[in-house]
Amino acid sequence: MKFATELIHGGNPIDPEHGSLSHPIYHTSTFAQRSFDQFGRYDYARSGNPTREALEDAVAKLEKGTTGLAFASGMAAIASTFLLFRPGDHLVVCEDVYGGTFRVLSTLFTGWGLQVSFVDATDLEQIAAAITPQTRALYLETPSNPLIKISDIPGCVALAKQRGLLTIVDNTFMTPYLQRPLELGCDIVLHSGTKFLNGHSDVICGFAVTATQELGQRLRFIQNAFGAVLGPQDCWLVLRGLKTLKVRLEESQSSAKKIVAWLQQQEAVQKVYYPGLPEHPGYEIHRRQASGPGAVLSFELKSFETTKRLLEGVQLAAFAVSLGGVESILSYPAKMSHAAMPPAEREARGIKDTLVRLSVGLEDPEDLIADLERFLK
Ligand SMILES: Cc1ncc(COP(=O)(O)O)c(C=O)c1O
Repeated sequence: MKFATELIHGGNPIDPEHGSLSHPIYHTSTFAQRSFDQFGRYDYARSGNPTREALEDAVAKLEKGTTGLAFASGMAAIASTFLLFRPGDHLVVCEDVYGGTFRVLSTLFTGWGLQVSFVDATDLEQIAAAITPQTRALYLETPSNPLIKISDIPGCVALAKQRGLLTIVDNTFMTPYLQRPLELGCDIVLHSGTKFLNGHSDVICGFAVTATQELGQRLRFIQNAFGAVLGPQDCWLVLRGLKTLKVRLEESQSSAKKIVAWLQQQEAVQKVYYPGLPEHPGYEIHRRQASGPGAVLSFELKSFETTKRLLEGVQLAAFAVSLGGVESILSYPAKMSHAAMPPAEREARGIKDTLVRLSVGLEDPEDLIADLERFLK
């Protein structure tokens, strides 16, 4: 099946009992057992729920993995994945990783004994130099957030395989519609499903998809043991949101390209970060490993005053945390996604006080441009 067909028919079988096109919501915490000797397929809903399973299978198929697991948030998926490692293990992580991932690694997991090196993951030599005998995995986000840096996934996979490491990719920005890291040799793909996968700004959720069943089983054990699972009502909302992933992303991406072209001509704009721009240093690498630049861009303004006026005055794009919804969202990384990062650390990574990130939704791009124009002209 092609991607669009897979979205509609892949993981969402027609209910065999009554023929309902929409998957039933199994709102239950437990399942009655009929036999003393052999329990049924489901026993307790933390361990498994049919609505969750339909969603997990759907996301696993889209990412071309063997096992999909749905969690209560993107951070729950990410933190549960870090539990695959042990105190003393070392991870090499891209330096402009999502602020929440930076926070959980640099506080809770460091306290627990995991060692982490943050590196510029656009540079394979820096990644190679950070690997120690204790290193167990490379952790990437490409495009990264909010500076939209590109890591060479096949290059990182080759290095990881040579050194016996896992490669883990947070694929939130691209979604499997535009980029499928498992097909490029990665071992685990993570998502904040809160963003494009659900797409309607009404659910917090996360996913992990593994390439092999063996890794899937280990992560399934952690999902059940740690227990940060996604509830059935939210699973159903994501199953519904997922069906329109392709049309949403196509439309938002097309508008993002128009907005980028317009931003580049604005006197008030210092720099635009978007992997669809030929002058982007990662343009060629991104073109090889993904089928489009996506719907998220960042731009730096020349003055802090304009930045503040824009964020406080903009009407169509919500000034909010998050991305990937049908509504456009304008975020301020310094106080939002990267607030957990100390200011000096943030500045050193190039996340300035004049940087804003725009997630383009489904509004007409001309209206979005007119809204931005009021503050940038
Ligand atoms: C790239 C990325 N990964 C992970 C997360 C965390 O996901 P959640 O907010 O669903 O816990 C976010 C949230 O913004 C994100 O942008």
